[in-house]
Amino acid sequence: MKSDHYEILTATFGHLKDGREALIYTLSNANGVTAEITNYGATLVSLKAPDRDGTIEDLLHGYDSVDGYAGSKNPYFGASVGRFGNRIKDGKFTLDCKDYILATNNDSGGIPCHLHGGVDGFNRRIWTATLRPESNAITFTYVSVDGEEGYPGTLCAEITYQLNDNNDLTWTAVATTDAPTVLNMVHHPYWNLSGDHSTSINDHILMLPCDRYLPTNVGLIPTGELASVIGTPMDFTQPTQIGLRVNDQFETLEFAGGYDHCWVLQQPNVNGLALAARVKDPKSGRMMEVHTNQVGVQFYGGNFLSPEDFQGEFASGKGGLAYEYRTALCLETEGFPDAPNQANFPSTVLCPGETYEHRMLYRFSAE
Ligand code: GLA
Repeated sequence: MKSDHYEILTATFGHLKDGREALIYTLSNANGVTAEITNYGATLVSLKAPDRDGTIEDLLHGYDSVDGYAGSKNPYFGASVGRFGNRIKDGKFTLDCKDYILATNNDSGGIPCHLHGGVDGFNRRIWTATLRPESNAITFTYVSVDGEEGYPGTLCAEITYQLNDNNDLTWTAVATTDAPTVLNMVHHPYWNLSGDHSTSINDHILMLPCDRYLPTNVGLIPTGELASVIGTPMDFTQPTQIGLRVNDQFETLEFAGGYDHCWVLQQPNVNGLALAARVKDPKSGRMMEVHTNQVGVQFYGGNFLSPEDFQGEFASGKGGLAYEYRTALCLETEGFPDAPNQANFPSTVLCPGETYEHRMLYRFSAE
């Protein structure tokens, strides 16, 4: 493989119940890092990277074929989420004096809400892929018609994955609309940097360069406050073991059953990207940095993972695994959850003539 021209492999990933075939593509780089991506949901299926001894392992929870991703218990493994990532209170918002009703497809703390774009969000659509071997990239496109999942405006969305020889994987979402709408596309991989997906991520060391976070209420909706992390278990400004304070008596942690909050990021730097998170697995030495141009990062510690969701009638995880509680973590860069209902949050409205652009960079190393 020459670094000025990469080979992108294509294979079948199985068929959906309606007969449509899903495909899986493999990007690889000069260091043996690979990323497998399916056109079903523009989903990142695997990311294989070396540990400090050069041992390459898959760092992502997921399924062996498309059926698992299409299954009813898929917790958005690797998904490209849209139109609106995270929760919208009561599944309702008002835009330009018009009320919109969305699916209440999630129930947190007994309170129904809209989650991750609804019943058939972007993660459950087949996207059109364009392979770009000259830049080791794949671009997926999807047109979400006016009214889909209750959202206004026909939206043209594009997601590009690109892998380079510095072990950077980028995920870039771009979209335009023909009518005012709200948009918060989110990338949702579940990481376990040890490569052993039966082990807890509570031993991973996390750094979030954020001095504020969004406390949530019992229904996991932000209260509207931007609270200081100082003196709380939400302070990750210094690298800290995730499990150290996760079970502390701290109201918003108790409501969420652990870490599942949006931290407030500093403004992007001159290159348009700022560090959002750095996470390290002490056993393997693997480290991942996340950079973004977004205002927030959701750190979710896998509190809803439950082995029953990977047994019996439900698809098992990769290699037949039933994923246990807190065996993976998500770091989802985003606009603030429930922003369409919170006037004090940065706007997530997209208007005709504007271009939405969400840039995300994952950098892998080992020490
Ligand atoms: C996000 C949310 C979590 C949970 C997962 C999906 O990360 O913040 O509360 O809903 O998605 O299971």
